[in-house]
Amino acid sequence: MHTLIFQNVNRGFSVSENSVSAGQSFADRLQSYQQRIEQSMDAGLPPGDAAPPPLHQAMRYAVLNGGKRIRPLFCYATAEALGVDLAMVDAPAACIEMIHAFSLVHDDLPAMDDDDLRRGKPTAHIAFGEAVAILAGDALQMQAFHMITRSPALDGKPGLQVALIDLIAEAAGSHGMTGGQAIDLAAEGNTLSQSELETMFAKKTGCLIRASILSACLCAGVDEKTMQDYDRYARDIGLAFQIKDDVLDEEGDTAVIGKPQGSDRAHGKATYPSLFGMDKAKDRCEELYQQALAVLDRQGESADGLRWLSQYVIKRDF
Ligand code: IPE
Ligand code: IPE
Ligand code: MG
Ligand code: MG
Ligand code: MG
Repeated sequence: MHTLIFQNVNRGFSVSENSVSAGQSFADRLQSYQQRIEQSMDAGLPPGDAAPPPLHQAMRYAVLNGGKRIRPLFCYATAEALGVDLAMVDAPAACIEMIHAFSLVHDDLPAMDDDDLRRGKPTAHIAFGEAVAILAGDALQMQAFHMITRSPALDGKPGLQVALIDLIAEAAGSHGMTGGQAIDLAAEGNTLSQSELETMFAKKTGCLIRASILSACLCAGVDEKTMQDYDRYARDIGLAFQIKDDVLDEEGDTAVIGKPQGSDRAHGKATYPSLFGMDKAKDRCEELYQQALAVLDRQGESADGLRWLSQYVIKRDF
């Protein structure tokens, strides 16, 4: 499954224009970063036979099932750009990816998007039942923060641990991802303005991507101005990521995206293509990509990994 994902990531990139050669080298490092986050989350999750086994199996199923790991990749690419020891960002990367996995479990529930396919496999509630899936999501959210409190690389840095927990909790809570999900559900079947839709996207999806990038900034101890630059980059690329997700829901292939194509339309979701048309969705994605790249201009060659990922966000086919 993971090999397929790596091939897909590279295939998604190869359809796009050539990037600078240093950018290609991030593609070479992708697999090792994906393995790194896989190992870190595997080690950070309780074994599947720990009591109660169905809960722990569902937690592992929800996390270790072949996601793209884009949020950890943003962490590692930002760490590269800022010269941060990768071991320091292992914990926030795993924490955010576990929270993302929990958000997907709940997002797929019948009470929310009611989807039965995720990452090419039955969704957690189809595989384990709704009650266990809800509890697995709850427990993953808590387990995620242990990655930071128990990280050997962050041992002896309590101020940084608290700052990371504060950043990620804010990004995942009612002002961030969870709040965005509430707006998303309330918007079903309704018309939103462009700014209302983008606010919803910034919260439900942008906040965790922003936290991935800013957590590496916190580990680096960057100055205020640099933090603001990365914040602007993160907001633009996070928004572009969700618009592309909406585009793929309309135009993608179920076998490639690993989730049911056309689900948004079938459920009356408020999406960029449904509200403003496919052309405008794609134009806005490109505009945000260019804005994001422009912010990176000030960062030099060390940010080539982020440039590569930015292009991947808008060119990907899953
Ligand atoms: C899907 O996220 C949900 C959104 C926030 C758009 P991803 O596209 O990152 O899903 P995985 O983790 O690769 O499965
Ligand atoms: C999900 O947005 C955002 C989350 C916070 C999980 P979507 O509902 O569009 O994500 P997919 O398409 O199901 O992955
Ligand atoms: Mg949703
Ligand atoms: Mg969904
Ligand atoms: Mg979607």
